[in-house]
Amino acid sequence: MTNSFVWSWLTVALVTALVLSLYELYRKREKRGGVRGARVPRGSNGWPFIGESLDFISCALSSKPESFVDKRRILYGKVFKTHLFGAHTILSSDVEVSRFILHSDAKTFVPDYPSSLMELMGKSSILVCNGDLQRRVHGLVGYFLKSGQLRDQVTSDLVRRMDGAMKDWKDGEVVLIQDQAKSILFPILVKALIGLEPGNDMHFIRYQFQEFVAGLISFPIKLPGSQLQRSLQAKKRIAAIIKRILQKKRNNIKGRIPRDAIDVLISDNNDELTDELISDNMVDFMIPAEDSVPVLITLVIKYLSECPRALHQLEDENMKLKNRKLMLGENLSWTDYLSLSFTQDVISESLRMGNVIVSTWRKAVRDVEIKGLLIPKGWRVISYLRFMHLAEENYKDPYEFNPWRWRENDINRCSFMPFGAGQRLCPGMDLARLEAAIFLHHLVTNFTWVAEEDQVVNFPTVRMKGGMPIRAIRKKQAVQMQ
Ligand code: HEM
Repeated sequence: MTNSFVWSWLTVALVTALVLSLYELYRKREKRGGVRGARVPRGSNGWPFIGESLDFISCALSSKPESFVDKRRILYGKVFKTHLFGAHTILSSDVEVSRFILHSDAKTFVPDYPSSLMELMGKSSILVCNGDLQRRVHGLVGYFLKSGQLRDQVTSDLVRRMDGAMKDWKDGEVVLIQDQAKSILFPILVKALIGLEPGNDMHFIRYQFQEFVAGLISFPIKLPGSQLQRSLQAKKRIAAIIKRILQKKRNNIKGRIPRDAIDVLISDNNDELTDELISDNMVDFMIPAEDSVPVLITLVIKYLSECPRALHQLEDENMKLKNRKLMLGENLSWTDYLSLSFTQDVISESLRMGNVIVSTWRKAVRDVEIKGLLIPKGWRVISYLRFMHLAEENYKDPYEFNPWRWRENDINRCSFMPFGAGQRLCPGMDLARLEAAIFLHHLVTNFTWVAEEDQVVNFPTVRMKGGMPIRAIRKKQAVQMQ
């Protein structure tokens, strides 16, 4: 009896000592001072294991995902600590801190997205890899995506595909803009990346691709039948087709002007750019074709449908350009589309309000101090772009769709980061703006429309729940009907 009593007490004492020393260790780490006595930002770790993940997800599922930041900003300030998806996390809604993070190189911060996404991208993906290799691939592909040759090709392909699709639209019938934008745009970017023309392989890739993207934000478990496993297999199937194309290209690249991203990468004669690396990266580069750009276009059309004054001004700007070109007997070039300044302001405003990419995720590879705050080595740092785009301190009446604000001088342009910033600034940003401008031009100069009820969904990715249904009426007929 006495023995067991002693043992029980000893056990309790040992466990208490262990817990206290672990707590002390944790406290020291939290309070660790930097050179100038920087402190880990204030905040809460939430519940054991799950941290504050449930609240983060429940806010993300609401119409105001930024409410997660809103609540904590009042308590702890613009930069606070939290615990999300199993990682100590610092969340920044501060423009200066976020820009510092995005402009830092891989000696300070490296990408650290959810594990399903990192697994599907693989180590060699430009979105994951660091240092010279990331800079090389980013530079080569970025330069190609900005080239006049590619913009010419994208412009003529997109105009042709839009004309083809719009021919099938019956007056007054429902058209799902999100689906239309995806099926029109996907083959255009795939051609720009791997040189493939529409056909059976394109159909197969698109079909497999939908399975691939379904796993990007999924449960990180690689069991047979799990979404992650199915997505990995889909990526392998797509990569196999790309490798076949790549090998053909390698055999006759000499003296040929690069026509797509694969040509550009193999012309670099860099041993690090293996077939494996190129084909895997090409699959990852396809994500904006199925997701970001079509969603941006869909959001622009949603906001325009709710703001007749902006729609009228955009229509006017585009009709003037169309008529001028008709009089001159010329086709529109990519420079014409990009010269539509109000159209670009409408696109900027839609990027600000819609936040196609909500946040960027990094991990600190060393202790980092900024503005008296310490970001400890190994911690995840989320720059919450959406909050900065919807903060009153950066934009007056932030929830009001106001494309005219982009002409005003007092706007805080540094806070506008829909395409990220720094080393990983999106290499496809100009292409995305061009594609959106072409789509809008052909829609508003040929059709009027009435939007049906729909709503924005923000999690796991941004999209319109019902695909943004509109009832479109061909313009000539609309005039006759008046
Ligand atoms: C509306 C359309 C788009 C949006 C909102 C968007 C947004 C972004 C953002 C925020 C990043 C930075 C990610 C980070 O810092 O971790 C990024 C990177 C990237 N984007 Fe885009 N993007 C769009 C279209 C495109 C297009 C058309 C392409 C062309 C293929 C593209 C290719 C890439 C690539 C390759 C990266 C990674 C760059 C690197 O890590 O070096 N994006 N994008």
